[in-house]
Amino acid sequence: MNILELIEKRYTAKKYNTDKVLPQEKIEDLKEILRLTPSSINIQPWKFTFVQNPEIKAKLASVSMHNTEKINQAQLLIVFSVADDLDAFQKVVNEFPPARRDWYNQIKANTPETDLKIWLSKQVYIALGVGLTACIALGLDSTAMEGIETDKYQDILNMTAYKPLFAMAVGYGSEDDFNRIEISPKLRRSQESVIETI
Ligand SMILES: Cc1cc2nc3c(=O)[nH]c(=O)nc-3n(C[C@H](O)[C@H](O)[C@H](O)COP(=O)(O)O)c2cc1C
Repeated sequence: MNILELIEKRYTAKKYNTDKVLPQEKIEDLKEILRLTPSSINIQPWKFTFVQNPEIKAKLASVSMHNTEKINQAQLLIVFSVADDLDAFQKVVNEFPPARRDWYNQIKANTPETDLKIWLSKQVYIALGVGLTACIALGLDSTAMEGIETDKYQDILNMTAYKPLFAMAVGYGSEDDFNRIEISPKLRRSQESVIETI
């Protein structure tokens, strides 16, 4: 299948098959794929928490709004977090090559902290795009989820330096998921309305 066919096939899984085992090697591939996500000035301000432990996953599911059932069914939940303690993140930045470190320090010096944090968060969303695309390429189904209680995720995961932003469930979609592409065709605006060619 070429890339366009894969993107046409991808859909947001709303129900997962709980019997079909997710191979560990695909999970390992996903870890490496997320690590390789590009970001502005290669800043990489993220943490990807791979939750396979059923008890911890169930705790997170219980604070995930309308997403509880999906998270309990899916065999993997990936929590995407952003560097939130900027002093702690500075230690990471200080290990970067000098040119990149200086670039970040200059941006930091000239940007209000709230804007700097928004900019860092935007970088994490790039990893979501990479992750969603990687899943379908690996033959897996997935659900991007902003519908989670991020503060409670932070407590459950004992995070201090990073702050959860959203999560992605990964597994094999259920045959009777109403959202499967065969049942719910893609709904998108027309190409003419979103693409401008000059
Ligand atoms: C950042 C982001 C957050 C989303 N949050 C949720 C969510 O919490 N729960 C859910 O079921 N779907 C969620 N979605 C799925 C979108 O509703 C879905 O991608 C969109 O309707 C297009 O449908 P498709 O992915 O099936 O093509 C989210 C998608 C994105 C990109």
